[in-house]
Amino acid sequence: MSKNTIIFSSSLGKKFVMSLTGLFLCSFLIVHLGGNIALFTSKNTFNEYTKFMTSNPVIRFMEIILVLGFLTHIVDAILLYVRNKNASDTKYVFDKKKSSISSRSMALTGSFILFFLIVHLRSFWYEYKFGEVIYSVDSNGNQIKDMYDIVTSSFESPIYSLFYVSAVILLGIHLNHGFQSAFLSLGLRHKKYTPFVSLIGKLFSFTITLGFISFPIYFCLKNFNLW
Ligand code: HEM
Repeated sequence: MSKNTIIFSSSLGKKFVMSLTGLFLCSFLIVHLGGNIALFTSKNTFNEYTKFMTSNPVIRFMEIILVLGFLTHIVDAILLYVRNKNASDTKYVFDKKKSSISSRSMALTGSFILFFLIVHLRSFWYEYKFGEVIYSVDSNGNQIKDMYDIVTSSFESPIYSLFYVSAVILLGIHLNHGFQSAFLSLGLRHKKYTPFVSLIGKLFSFTITLGFISFPIYFCLKNFNLW
């Protein structure tokens, strides 16, 4: 097997894993967005939802899979990026696509998403687990950690809200290219169906972007007593 063939096949393998983990992360976004809609209901409903998510053993197990999914996606992205940078002498159709502007923006948007993820986990997950969280009373009269308070406090900061909105827009851009690209990487290319997949990708990225942006907008309106 020639050097080029080895690089090509392992790059294909990495793209395959990238697409599977990317689509898996897309499914996580749907669940995450769906759950966060509880923010629009009441403080108690959201706190009880958070309690359920942080204590249910099945969800805890899924969390491990999610972390592994993220790590694999990120490590593969870095390896592919470095490999493509170094492989200037091996020009495949596959690599041409990866040296396009849209591919370069995938690395950029991905890096920003990664940075956002760290800040996001620090302000919500870490705060909930190890911070000085206030308690509220659930519908059964039990004391539970007040995650709703952590969320509202975060969105009281205009800087955090702006940062959040920027990250969500970049996530949307990442998905706009990523969703359809994942199907192509899996070899699911068809004259008739590819435009449909592309349309679904656009609708998906638009819904995810609008959905997540709606939270800081909602809290901003609430802070100004406009909601
Ligand atoms: C919720 C978060 C994320 C989702 C839903 C997501 C989704 C996707 C999808 C569906 C693809 C297309 C895979 C393919 O073309 O086969 C992709 C590609 C990519 N992702 Fe992500 N991603 C996320 C986070 C990240 C992060 C944190 C990074 C940071 C390094 C990243 C970096 C990349 C890169 C560089 C590519 C392009 C790979 C290539 O074509 O060479 N992504 N992503």
